[in-house]
Amino acid sequence: MKHTRILSITVLFISIATASPHIKNSAPEKQIGLFKNSDPRLNGIKYANWGSRPFEYYWAANVVDVKNKKVLDLGVGIPSQHHWYQYITRILSPNYYVGIDADGRMKNEEIHTDGYDMLNMDMSSLSFNDKTFDIAFCISTFEHIPYPFLMKSIQEAHRVLKDDGVLVITLDEHWDKNLALDHNNGWNDLEQSIMNTELCKVSHQSFGLPDFLDIVKEYFIPLTEDISIDLDRKVIFSKKTGQPYYQRQNRDPGILRSQIMYNSCVSYAVLKKKS
Ligand SMILES: C[S@@+](CC[C@H](N)C(=O)[O-])C[C@H]1O[C@@H](n2cnc3c(N)ncnc32)[C@H](O)[C@@H]1O
Repeated sequence: MKHTRILSITVLFISIATASPHIKNSAPEKQIGLFKNSDPRLNGIKYANWGSRPFEYYWAANVVDVKNKKVLDLGVGIPSQHHWYQYITRILSPNYYVGIDADGRMKNEEIHTDGYDMLNMDMSSLSFNDKTFDIAFCISTFEHIPYPFLMKSIQEAHRVLKDDGVLVITLDEHWDKNLALDHNNGWNDLEQSIMNTELCKVSHQSFGLPDFLDIVKEYFIPLTEDISIDLDRKVIFSKKTGQPYYQRQNRDPGILRSQIMYNSCVSYAVLKKKS
């Protein structure tokens, strides 16, 4: 039963995956996995989530080639508090960059320039035309919205990306299933809204990147071809070599984790549109 499940997902990915003109680093482990302590260029970053944000944006902006591309950043944060967009707009030269955020404070902080915009907008209802963008980032944001809004946002991202567009995501993950489903225990909105449903059972390991990929698979699939997902064990691995790209283990000293919650990490993935 388990083998059939793994196989069917593998076949799906083999048949649909193709190369992307936007990708800079085609190594599968650079496109899907968990940030590790051993990742180069962490530059003194000691823990995941907030502390790893500069690295997350560095990774996101370097796994794909944003130069001369149209880039959308979903849930970018407000300019007075989040400066990551400046790294991309000033140094990496996209053709156009727009960061959007639904935070009400963004209304007073909108930026409009020739090269980039920062706008107050809800990602579940985007005001952009179909097939406008080459690349969409969503950095540590999808896990913060409840399931119905997530699915609307995924549909919107699918709509505004060009056919060969890519969606670049990171997710903050907490996975101590013994802790009550509560913000104080690190559970995010998406996790809270789907745990103990058919989408994600708390009796398994808790929500993570494999569940996310399963939820969005009608709209987005991993860009890399070399991938299999075992939803029961919550492991993502190379179908060629069996090498795990994503495997959470409690108290794994190799995983870049939060300073507060021991069993936490940040996962990442580069996805492509399913046609
Ligand atoms: C954890 S923060 C991440 C911000 C930024 N991407 C970063 O990595 O620092 C999540 C952001 O998502 C925004 N957000 C939540 N729901 C949203 C929605 N429906 N549309 C747009 N932004 C949203 C929040 O206002 C918040 O700024």
